[in-house]
Amino acid sequence: MGSKKINNKCGLRQDYDFFSHGLEGVAAFETSISYIDGKDGILIYRGIPIEELAEKSTYEETAYFLIYGSLPTKTELKKFSSDLENHISLNTEDIKWLKDFPVAAHPMDVLNTCVSLMSLPEGGDYEIGRGSDLKAGIRIMGKMPSYIAAFDRIRKGKEPIPPDSKLSYAANFLWMLNGEKPKEKEARILDLCLILHAEHGVCASTFGTLVTSSTFSDVYSSIVTAIGTLKGYLHGGANEQVIRMLEGIGSPEKVEKYVSHAMKEKEKIMGFGHRVYKALDPRARILKKYARDLTGKRDEILFKTALKLEEVMEKKFGPKGIYPNVDFYSGFVYKALGIPTDLFTSIFAIARSAGWIAHILEYRESNRIFRPRGIYNGPVNVKYIPIKER
Ligand code: CMC
Repeated sequence: MGSKKINNKCGLRQDYDFFSHGLEGVAAFETSISYIDGKDGILIYRGIPIEELAEKSTYEETAYFLIYGSLPTKTELKKFSSDLENHISLNTEDIKWLKDFPVAAHPMDVLNTCVSLMSLPEGGDYEIGRGSDLKAGIRIMGKMPSYIAAFDRIRKGKEPIPPDSKLSYAANFLWMLNGEKPKEKEARILDLCLILHAEHGVCASTFGTLVTSSTFSDVYSSIVTAIGTLKGYLHGGANEQVIRMLEGIGSPEKVEKYVSHAMKEKEKIMGFGHRVYKALDPRARILKKYARDLTGKRDEILFKTALKLEEVMEKKFGPKGIYPNVDFYSGFVYKALGIPTDLFTSIFAIARSAGWIAHILEYRESNRIFRPRGIYNGPVNVKYIPIKER
C-alpha cells in the first residue's frame, strides 16, 4: 500500500494514499457496536435505536448489550450488575489517594489518575486477552463513579460514602455523591443520561482508546487515553463549557450580540456542531425535553438563554448543518440533579466507559496497529551547526 506522491512544498517523496485533515471521512475498521446516520440524525446501538433504549432499557443492561453483543437474560444481567457492584467500593488505599489529591484538581484529571493507579497492583501480571480485558474493564466501570463521588465529597471536607448494594449504578452514584437516597425519578433520569452517552462510534476518545489498545497495551492505559481525550472542550469537555458560556452570556437579550461577536472572531459556540451529524443530534432532542421539564426557577434565565441561542444559531448556522449536539442540554439535566458543573464531563466518561470497553474487545479480534502518516512540510538540506557556533 502507499502510492508515491511528491509534495511540491519540500520536494521530498511522500508515501500515502490520500490526505484527510483530522481523518474526516476516513473509515479505519469495521464495527457492529453502533451506527450513526448524520444526515437524518439517527443513532443505533447494535441495531436498536437510541430512543428505544432510552425509554425501555437501563444503563447496566445497555452496557452489557454493548460489551457482550446481545441483550442479557435476567440471570446474565444479575451477574453483570453484581460484577460491577463487586468493584464499586473504594478501599482505604483508594481513599488515601483521593485525600492526597489537590482539592483544586479537575475531576477528569482525578478520574484519569485513579484509573492509572488502579493498574499498579497488577504489576506485570496483566496478560492481554479477552478474560483480562473484560475483568479490567468491569473493574474500571465499577469504580469510576465511586472515585468521582468520593473526590467531590473530600474536596468539600466531607467523608466518602460507601455504596448501597440495593441501588442501581446510577442511583448509587447520586447516593455516594449527595449522601441522600435519590428519588426514583432522579435515579431514572441519570440512568437515561448514561444510556444516551454510553456509545458513539469512532468519536475521538474511542479512537484514542483504540490507538492505545491496538499496540497491545492494557485496558487501564487504553481507558486513561480515552479519559484524557474526552476531557477536551471540542469533545466531552463541551458540556461543562456550555453552562459556563451561557452563564457568561447572562440573558436571552444578549445572545444575538454574543453570536455576532463569536462569528466575527471565528470562535466556536459550545454545544453546537458535529463531525458526523449535519442534523439535530437525536440525543440532544431527548435531553432538551428533560432539561425543559427539570429546569427550575433558579436556572430559568439560563435555560431561556439556551433556547434563544438555539434559535439564533438555527438561523445563522442551520444552513451549514450546525445544530445542538449532546452536550448542549445535558448540563441542564445534571444541574437539576444537583451535580456540580465541573463533574459533568466525568459523568460522560463514566457512561462512555461501556462503549470504550466494547470497542477494545471488538478491535482486539482483528487487531492492527493504527499508524497513519503525516505529510512532512518542513525544511530540507538544513546544515547542522555545532552548538558553540549557534
Ligand atoms: N460554532 C461556530 N461555528 C462552528 C461550530 C460551532 N460550534 N462548529 C463548527 N463550526 C463551523 C466552523 O467554524 C467551520 O466553518 P468554516 O467552514 O467557515 O471554517 C465549519 O463549521 C466546520 O467546522 P470544523 O471545526 O471544521 O468541524 P469539525 O468536524 O472539525 O468539528 C466539532 C466538529 C464538534 C469539534 C465542532 O463542531 C465544534 O468545535 N463544536 C463546538 C464544541 C462542541 O460542542 N463539542 C462537542 C461535540 S459533540 C459531543 C462529543 O462528541 O463530545
